[in-house]
Amino acid sequence: MPNSLLSPARLGSLELPNRVVMAPMTRSMAGEGLVPTEATALYYARRAAAGLILTEATIIRPDGQGYPDTPGIYTPEQVRGWQAVTKAVHDAGGRIFLQLWHVGRVSHPHFLNGDLPVAPSAVALSGRVSRTDDLQYGTPRALTSDEVSRLVEDFATATRNAREAGFDGVEIHGANGYLIDQFLHQQTNLRDDEWGGSPENMARFAVSVVDAVTAAWEPGRVGIRLSPGGYFNIEGDPKDAAVFEYLLARLDERDLAYVHTGIFDDSMTFEELGGATATEFLRSHYKGTLIACGSYTPETAAAALANEKFDLVAIGRPFIANPDLIDHIRSSADLVPYDAAMLTTLE
Ligand code: FNR
Repeated sequence: MPNSLLSPARLGSLELPNRVVMAPMTRSMAGEGLVPTEATALYYARRAAAGLILTEATIIRPDGQGYPDTPGIYTPEQVRGWQAVTKAVHDAGGRIFLQLWHVGRVSHPHFLNGDLPVAPSAVALSGRVSRTDDLQYGTPRALTSDEVSRLVEDFATATRNAREAGFDGVEIHGANGYLIDQFLHQQTNLRDDEWGGSPENMARFAVSVVDAVTAAWEPGRVGIRLSPGGYFNIEGDPKDAAVFEYLLARLDERDLAYVHTGIFDDSMTFEELGGATATEFLRSHYKGTLIACGSYTPETAAAALANEKFDLVAIGRPFIANPDLIDHIRSSADLVPYDAAMLTTLE
């Protein structure tokens, strides 16, 4: 039987040769000026057989940074660096979207010239800053309403830069407890202005970013990643589901390329989502194309695809361990197991 993962798919404005997407994965190996390097270009080009590559999360402006050496898309040098990446991927026959990122409160003055991280509300994050020795997260500064509007514009500018850099589209990073997600969850959004207080207001930032980004590029070139259940950098709340139901209804009206589940293990269920997994919840409230992700193997993904649980699958860690993952799927060959030590190089 032909493997359903290897059947072609239409994704927004693109035709994909298969349904296996490379999940976005931060590598913290950008060069001087947070510019992607030649090694980055080779790393992505080696994986060009993926139906679509989603880049590592890429900061839209300097205060969007929360980890060392993550690339940006706001300087001419960064745009030029990405041009080399998109050319390498296209020359190898692939397709590649840039993931647009702002971490919000998941940062530290260490990355921000001593300034506090910005967020919807001044709600502290506890824990050690990832990929650093001993920095602790703290309490961010709440954005003013005008500053929130400015951020919406900055997502649009980053989209124009991504077009100039030769990408095939952009993915808005609305998942994993970062800035957009902080507006969508009760724990981190205590605002009582137009950006908080009701499902409509809490979803306004995400919807405004989608509208600004799709004004800068056609909707068929734009996807969004979401984490309806709080699981990383954020705590869930029984009232969160109503915000995501409202948001997904608005997204359904917008003809985006796709919605993409942001999760590490998609077998995890959420009480606040009525006992559903993140992908089940998204599927039941969104009619468009859905990309699932989170600890799938080629076998489990193919079975779920055959049962129409989603339309495409994003694979992360196995793609680091197996640059030729698509060939492995085609020949049913055993995969090289992923090991976190593989993150130290950009092979
Ligand atoms: C991630 N993940 C992630 N997600 C995202 O939206 N943007 C990102 O930059 C990153 N960075 C990142 C780095 C590393 C090293 C890992 C392992 C993961 C999450 C990733 O996209 C995916 O959701 C998970 O890895 C689960 O999928 P797999 O790896 O089980 O297929």
